[in-house]
Amino acid sequence: MCGIVGYTGPREAYPIIIKGLKRLEYRGYDSTGVALQNGQGVKVYKKKGRVAELEDAIVGKDLHAHVGIGHTRWATHGEPSDRNAHPHQSSSGKLAMIHNGIIENYSQLKNELISKGYVFHSDTDTEVLLNFIEEIKKNNNCSLEEAIRIALKRVVGAYVILLVDADDPNTIIAARKGSPLVIGVGKGEHFLGSDASPMLEYTKEVVYVNDYEMAIVKPDELILKNLGNEKITPYIQKLDLELAAIEKGGYDHFMLKEIFEQPQTVYDCLRGRLDPVAGTITMSGIQQYADQIVKASRIVMVACGTSWHAGLAAEYIFEELCRINVEVEYASEFRYRNPVINKGDIIIAISQSGETADTLVAIETAKAKGAIILGVVNVVGSSIARASHGGAYTHAGPEIGVASTKAFTGQLAVLTMIALKIAYIKGSISNDRYMHLLNELNEIPEKLAWVLNHADHIKKLAEKYKDARDFLYLGRGYNFPVALEGALKLKEISYIHAEGYPAAEMKHGPIALVDETLPVVFIATKDAYHEKLISNMQEIKARKGRVISVITEGDEMAKSLSEDVMIVPETDEIVAPMLSVVPLQLLAYYIGVAKGQDVDKPRNLAKSVTVE
Ligand code: M6R
Repeated sequence: MCGIVGYTGPREAYPIIIKGLKRLEYRGYDSTGVALQNGQGVKVYKKKGRVAELEDAIVGKDLHAHVGIGHTRWATHGEPSDRNAHPHQSSSGKLAMIHNGIIENYSQLKNELISKGYVFHSDTDTEVLLNFIEEIKKNNNCSLEEAIRIALKRVVGAYVILLVDADDPNTIIAARKGSPLVIGVGKGEHFLGSDASPMLEYTKEVVYVNDYEMAIVKPDELILKNLGNEKITPYIQKLDLELAAIEKGGYDHFMLKEIFEQPQTVYDCLRGRLDPVAGTITMSGIQQYADQIVKASRIVMVACGTSWHAGLAAEYIFEELCRINVEVEYASEFRYRNPVINKGDIIIAISQSGETADTLVAIETAKAKGAIILGVVNVVGSSIARASHGGAYTHAGPEIGVASTKAFTGQLAVLTMIALKIAYIKGSISNDRYMHLLNELNEIPEKLAWVLNHADHIKKLAEKYKDARDFLYLGRGYNFPVALEGALKLKEISYIHAEGYPAAEMKHGPIALVDETLPVVFIATKDAYHEKLISNMQEIKARKGRVISVITEGDEMAKSLSEDVMIVPETDEIVAPMLSVVPLQLLAYYIGVAKGQDVDKPRNLAKSVTVE
């Protein structure tokens, strides 16, 4: 959470920073600020609200500078307000700092500083850390770099910090632990960002900074050090990302664009891996651990949010195809629970961003206990990808809408391929079934396009149901995680209360909610549980609930029991969630839009949850 941008070089810094912040707004959008260093001191402009609001508010101000830092905030310590917006300035006014993360021992540090006469102008942990750094610099009569190093050794928590100093007009000092930091290397200039999007049109050469590293960044010099003051050679990587991938491309919202990209993103995910003719699945990051996975007595899926739903779907798939015991864990619970982890256990960490703090810490905990960590991650080079022993990227491209859509179908595609590969090696699947499923998986992109061709129908349903107060989503088996995902999408985008439930479990409580006002969405595609689900539909209908169903094309029985249907093409039940989730993504999107919500940036949320 929180987006950070920095620039030092010959160009005007302000436009680069503002454009970069707009691209990082998915990380937080409570308040915005910039600090500009023009050789005559540091100027700070900041404001509650979105980047565009700051832009409007500072028209006409002196924004000329060749060095600057900028921040878009997701509030942790202190409400969203002008005073809590970053950058913060030190007591002397000479230093300005932005921060992404949480300083857990800030109150202890704050008390120490208060006893020394410091006065604070915000409620943030960031201002505390900044003044702590300034106090060390003053007391030890040392350089800013040295003061930061000393301060960070006392800090408990997570951070990326960027500082500018009025006495050092060309330099930005950055440090990282637990939150992402990318440095773009240009000709005589450097760019800094929470991800690479702010620097895309200027350079394709980037350095991913690691935990416990500091960067001293000048226009023509990048010095990387560890906290022990030893120099590290920056490892420059080439970005494989085009500008078009992070733009809306004619769609009203990123979320809609990303929903509509799914035929292509799933195709990209399968391409070069799945060969339905040869009957092969090529995944080198899995192949190297295949023996251990085959022999594993259990696999633990660790994730949060939508990625957790993908993990739950994978539990059904792995247990069915591979006959390996699978547990699905919320990363935030797993990491604090002192879980039983044995050497050789397989942990599959699922994450779109690859930066989710709880997932990252969970895998580090498991790794320390001897588990093998496989990452199913979307963002290339992200912290979870780098912390994993092996795994596979989802190749869905940048997902900018806060609600996860194409990442989910990508995760399902990757997890299904892994399960099929392991089942084949293990011999727990017949050859016929294996070949059949390869073909079914291969046809998913085309079938996704078919589903998306019916988006207008779902838009009409959204108009019809948008005023409902609550929604219930029900599914069984492979479609139970889809019910959870459909409910999550609706609540986060439209703010309508929605619950996902196993369809049969509904009788044990939620059925009490059913009346003639409650839309009940059944994920009712044809599978082994279909008849049971039809009975559940009857139960809802008998209580006058409004049944809306996602059904397989040609399923007249389910259609006759439903007030409205959303149709998907026939496919095997194992790969069905990749299709059945799409109408639910569209329904949530269109209801959110119909209610006038900001679907790409729903309130209180951030795309990448880098705090615990
Ligand atoms: O980046 P991750 O996949 O690790 O993120 C996990 C969740 O924060 C994320 O799925 C969140 O629940 C989304 N807002 C869901 O749409």
